[in-house]
Amino acid sequence: MPPPRGWRYGAANRRTNEMKLKDQVAIVTGAGRNIGEEIAKLFAAEGAKVAVVDMDKPRGERVCTTIKGQGGEAELFIADVSRGEEVTALIARVVARFGRIDILVNNVAISDNKHIFDLSEQDWDRVLAVTLKSQFLMGKHAAQQMAKQSTGGRIVNIGSTSGFVGRSRALAYSAAKGGVANLTRAMAAQLAPHKIRVNAIVPNKIGSPVGKDEFDPTRPVANMAKRPGEPKEAAKAVLFLASEDSSFVYGANLFVDGGVSAMDLS
Ligand SMILES: NC(=O)c1ccc[n+]([C@@H]2O[C@H](COP(=O)([O-])OP(=O)(O)OC[C@H]3O[C@@H](n4cnc5c(N)ncnc54)[C@H](O)[C@@H]3O)[C@@H](O)[C@H]2O)c1
Repeated sequence: MPPPRGWRYGAANRRTNEMKLKDQVAIVTGAGRNIGEEIAKLFAAEGAKVAVVDMDKPRGERVCTTIKGQGGEAELFIADVSRGEEVTALIARVVARFGRIDILVNNVAISDNKHIFDLSEQDWDRVLAVTLKSQFLMGKHAAQQMAKQSTGGRIVNIGSTSGFVGRSRALAYSAAKGGVANLTRAMAAQLAPHKIRVNAIVPNKIGSPVGKDEFDPTRPVANMAKRPGEPKEAAKAVLFLASEDSSFVYGANLFVDGGVSAMDLS
């Protein structure tokens, strides 16, 4: 049946029995804008209780206010997910607030946008810590909680096509995202016995560039769709991997890139 007129995605607009994540507790990191924001909003519309995690308070507050305004459930947790002690405290705070964790989306990343000659050791360490180490830290501590619950869980890592090709404009980010692709496979193999499914999406050119607020209409796009992706399109792929719709999918890197990775660019 088509949605009623004036439908926006919000929990109040969805029938309870149609919701894919009803009453599940989901953590979305970097949910303050762009792709993470849309994941948080879509999950809430699908009935999840969403832990909106970001370092930036105003951004996170805006997303939580929007979700609540649409009849969903969300709470803001401020943390730097690249730091082990903040991650353990964050997981404890989420469990204290919502009682459990069913889904983790590792969405946070930063890019260096640098040539190797201009990249400092500090740049390298920070990009690797935020973009790769955070997924290990969040994955480890969330999975330990999921394993304790013994009802399983789902983890979705956000990768990038930069992890599958050499890029002239980013080095540490490309290395970190290459790590995300295989971290996903290794986590999937290790956590499957605990009924935790781990997968990743691999976006390209979606919404604003990583680390930026503004959509850049001049950003070059060469893909099969002949347009940039919308954050909602990434969110829908993440929902698939976070829900029972993907019950036989383990350790996958799902390309959400307008087909660019499948193109012959010669
Ligand atoms: N935007 C794209 O075109 C694109 C393309 C390929 C992959 N991706 C991937 O998608 C994901 C989201 O990208 P985006 O463009 O939406 O990012 P973004 O920069 O727009 O948003 C990231 C959010 O994470 C928060 N954040 C950054 N570091 C943090 C930390 N250490 N702890 C907690 N919060 C932190 C920021 O405050 C921000 O709100 C990333 O993993 C990125 O690599 C994006």
